[in-house]
Amino acid sequence: MSKSDYIAQTSISYRKKYGQFFTPSLVASIMAKWVTENHPKTILDPAFGLGIFYEEISQLNLRNKWHLTTYEIDDNILSYLDDIQNKTNITIFNKDYLESDFNTYDAIICNPPYMRFQKFINRHDILPKIEQQIGKKLVGYSNIASIFLIKALQQLNVRGRLAFILPFEFFNTGYGKEIKKTLIEKYLLKQIIICANEKDIFPDATTTICILLCQNDQLKQDIKITNINNTQEIKEISNISEYYHHPLDHIQLPYQKKWTPIILSLISQQKIPKGFCKLSEYGTFKRGIATGANDFFALNKNKIEQLRISDNNVCLCITKSHLITKAIFTDDDLILLVKQDKPIYCLDVEEINNQAVKNYIKLGEEKAYHQRYLTKNRKPWYKLEKREPAPILFGVFNRGRLKVIRNFTSAIHFTCYHGFYPNIFGQNLINQLFIYLMSDIGQDIIKMNKRSYGNNLDKFEPGDLNNSYCPNVEQLNAINEEEVREIISIANMDKKEAIIMSNKLIEKIMDD
Ligand SMILES: C[S@@+](CC[C@H](N)C(=O)[O-])C[C@H]1O[C@@H](n2cnc3c(N)ncnc32)[C@H](O)[C@@H]1O
Repeated sequence: MSKSDYIAQTSISYRKKYGQFFTPSLVASIMAKWVTENHPKTILDPAFGLGIFYEEISQLNLRNKWHLTTYEIDDNILSYLDDIQNKTNITIFNKDYLESDFNTYDAIICNPPYMRFQKFINRHDILPKIEQQIGKKLVGYSNIASIFLIKALQQLNVRGRLAFILPFEFFNTGYGKEIKKTLIEKYLLKQIIICANEKDIFPDATTTICILLCQNDQLKQDIKITNINNTQEIKEISNISEYYHHPLDHIQLPYQKKWTPIILSLISQQKIPKGFCKLSEYGTFKRGIATGANDFFALNKNKIEQLRISDNNVCLCITKSHLITKAIFTDDDLILLVKQDKPIYCLDVEEINNQAVKNYIKLGEEKAYHQRYLTKNRKPWYKLEKREPAPILFGVFNRGRLKVIRNFTSAIHFTCYHGFYPNIFGQNLINQLFIYLMSDIGQDIIKMNKRSYGNNLDKFEPGDLNNSYCPNVEQLNAINEEEVREIISIANMDKKEAIIMSNKLIEKIMDD
């Protein structure tokens, strides 16, 4: 049974449940060649799927005898593999890998299931056993793939090799720190391969994918960074160890720091300009209001009137990203949206004894909005967190250019945007910061902290923005106020022109 048959016959929700995203054979082949270079006798694949790694290793016609031990939790997928079951050099356990023993192996090759650990049924039994084995507490490990890696690293024989697929954003997570520390301090990590343009290479993937190559040889060597842009490039690689773009010393990859910006800055040739500081020096980006039931909380004028809800119990709110189309959002734009009867209000209960409000809440409860994940944990369920309007808004999801908006209205916003809240250093530099964020230089630098979702879709968490770089106070203050105002008034009508002007202004302060 081929991969395409299995995919055709299996629903995407089923595959998601098990984290069944398959490694393309070109990528699997590179990984297989790397892990088998030192003639391993015992090989482990913790997450078998349709067995691409076994297939690739078999095709290498290795001189030595080898045996692959593998785990696959899903008996359904295994039922598609009757031809493999008869082979003598493979043992397939239809079991949870995380519950398996800690035998060690000469080579480990894995594309782990990538899903939230919270969803995992046996996590309360599994974690303590793994913690005992590795002698460390596993706190905050929200993704199952990272637990696979922790366990696998424990199972690697001396001189053994490991090739592991991980989402690139893993290097930015808090829980990833411990693993990064182990990888660096024990000199395990030899190479990181980043698969850019991932839809071409990994049609299945929803995030940017990278491959870790590790060897348990205690040799301090440079860590090689390889950036692969398309399948043609992979086809031409004969020896992956010799194919890399940047050698990095271990101190260049501190485990406490996010690795994505460090690595991306190498790949994109994008350097942090001289004097730049963290955006967090000027304030904080925070996520918008998470309602847990936007359908209930987002309201338009007509509906408010129908429900007879008074103005005291609603507030102006950007409830959807597409409601703002320009770089500048003014009261005139807001009035237009009200006229167009767009959902530009949000329920903001101030008078709980007001009959109209009571009726609407009751209606919400009849529709079970109060039993949703977020609402049921809120007391009372209809009372939203308080937020001030933010003078700069930043789109959470972006395709191509990053959506940056200078908000001059008193509207608050839902989670479609992150809002910037300036501190005392930032409050007089809001327009300058906005211009920087809108400029090409600003956009390229901010993008270094993005999380790619594939298909050119980038996501930012507030922390990604707070940690990104921007000009320092002297540089921002060197921007002429009048020019700033001119750009803002032009941005209201002609964004392209405003970007060109912003570029010039930012280039000027960088040269100074
Ligand atoms: C990302 S897929 C990779 C499959 C294959 N190795 C490949 O690269 O194409 C992960 C596989 O692990 C299986 N799986 C999920 N959770 C597992 C667990 N706890 N133990 C073993 N296998 C698991 C899934 O059913 C899925 O087939």
